[in-house]
Amino acid sequence: MRLFVALALPDDLVERLERMCAGLPGAVWVRPENLHVTLRFIGEVDALQANDIDAALSAVSVPSFQLSLTGLGQFGEGRKTRAVWVGVAPTPELAALQSKIERAIVRAGLEPESRKFHPHVTLARFSSNPGIKLRTFFAQHALFRTTPFEVTSFELYSSVLGSGAPLYNREASYVLKPGKTSTA
Ligand code: 2AM
Repeated sequence: MRLFVALALPDDLVERLERMCAGLPGAVWVRPENLHVTLRFIGEVDALQANDIDAALSAVSVPSFQLSLTGLGQFGEGRKTRAVWVGVAPTPELAALQSKIERAIVRAGLEPESRKFHPHVTLARFSSNPGIKLRTFFAQHALFRTTPFEVTSFELYSSVLGSGAPLYNREASYVLKPGKTSTA
């Protein structure tokens, strides 16, 4: 199975992002139910490895924390634009969670991630050049920022690739400890 670790987003935020997903030629918009912040892409593993990963992730312990989305960005430029995304405001708490997850994955026997962690929510992917409209899109959403939301869990998803949108299944959810900011 093909796995990744991610944060799910609150429904109101998903609705807001969904409303942004329009007006770019050549865009393949991410379906609302698929919007997420990847914390660690794992890739193909067998059932035994998946069990080890689940056990290692279950031992990750951090307090819940506040997070907000802010700004827009892209991967690739011009004709090579691959994706447009919404940024995640970096916080020490998010960095701590991500590095504990990374250590858990390595403890489960996988190779360390060599790429720098760049938290984001991909809104669209492109197979062709979005052209001039991209500038309009960025201008329209230049001030995009959310109010902070509470991150109370992280998720392990499997991803099934087909001809259309990938199918993401939540395989496990790992609840964070009550944090300073939690009201529960
Ligand atoms: P993306 O949104 O920036 O494309 C599931 O595929 C998730 O894992 C996606 O959010 C994707 O990020 C992320 N991811 C990171 N590295 C990946 C890789 N090498 N292949 C596929 N997805 C990857």
